[in-house]
Amino acid sequence: MIGYHACPPPRLLNGSNRSVEETGESMAQTPQVQEEKLFIHNLVKRDPLAGLAEDVRRGLTTQPKRFLPKYFYDELGSQLFEAICLLPEYYLTRAENEILQRYADEIVSTVAGPTTLIEMGSGSASKTRLLIEALLRKQAELLFMPVDISATALENSSRILLQSYPRLNIEAYAADYFAALAELANEQRTHTLALFLGSNISNFDVDEALKFLRALRLVLNEGDALLLGADLKKDKAVLEAAYNDALGVTAAFNLNVLARINRELGGNFDLRAFAHRAVYNEEAGRVEIYIESCCEQTVSIRKLDLQVQFGEGEQIHTENSYKYDLEDIGKLAAQTGFTRAQTWQDQKQQFSSNLLLAV
Ligand SMILES: C[S@@+](CC[C@H](N)C(=O)[O-])C[C@H]1O[C@@H](n2cnc3c(N)ncnc32)[C@H](O)[C@@H]1O
Repeated sequence: MIGYHACPPPRLLNGSNRSVEETGESMAQTPQVQEEKLFIHNLVKRDPLAGLAEDVRRGLTTQPKRFLPKYFYDELGSQLFEAICLLPEYYLTRAENEILQRYADEIVSTVAGPTTLIEMGSGSASKTRLLIEALLRKQAELLFMPVDISATALENSSRILLQSYPRLNIEAYAADYFAALAELANEQRTHTLALFLGSNISNFDVDEALKFLRALRLVLNEGDALLLGADLKKDKAVLEAAYNDALGVTAAFNLNVLARINRELGGNFDLRAFAHRAVYNEEAGRVEIYIESCCEQTVSIRKLDLQVQFGEGEQIHTENSYKYDLEDIGKLAAQTGFTRAQTWQDQKQQFSSNLLLAV
């Protein structure tokens, strides 16, 4: 059996100790792993619809309409993101992978002594394997602590990792970043390397990024490190193509939020009456992602007892993806209790992996 509740109890924050099976999410085709190697803290609310329902109501009744990007990642959304990572236009994953392939040993050597690995928004944790392997070259065992809002992605990736690495133990958090960070800040660890890969930080505006980095800093001791993957400012055409691929996978990922509302909240969005839009706002330094109504229409959401009017061309803002230069990252670090000690880039200099040391 695999543990699912808080360990040691009671450490749940407004959460339940229900397993992924109990939340009804799919467990199909995940490998069996050895007893006691995997522990999942499920901090997702007892009523998993509550947060989604509140946020969708708020987002559709304000002007301009907007959703939070964390709602992209239901089971289908997480898989669509994996498909995005394989697209020729989506250079981010390949560039970060290239950096980690080349520098993983150097990166892990920056934290002294036996190290615990924490990852925020770990997803499939495919790139993380390179860092896990580097750490296992330097120490006998490794505790990996992934955090992800998608319980299915978290469990599937954890099981697959445990099959690959017999010297690995996993203590995972199915949780929003901030709920997990509040839990992790109460624990004592020796040395920690934290990861925030994939330019996940790009979804935050500056204030949110500062809040996130400060919360993460509280989890770390002086001398611990955060490896922060951050996508870099570049040509508008390259950026817009990355979020508007020819195959339409990013469009499906974006529109899946509407499908999710239909599935989980009893909505009647007609997905064919909405379109995906991705635009680089050069002044704000971010790619803005929208869902645009193709006509005047009314949508009802049964479980919210809500009717929403859309004008033709009206947009729902679903995501921002901020692009950085290295100076921005140094400033974020300096304001949050870190110093940017080192930065590695891919050969085309499209992406940056930044080692922020906790000071
Ligand atoms: C862009 S994907 C990146 C996945 C992986 N780190 C990578 O580099 O390929 C973002 C990941 O963060 C998770 N995520 C998004 N918002 C989150 C939140 N507020 N709290 C916890 N996890 C979140 C998603 O479920 C998803 O797995």
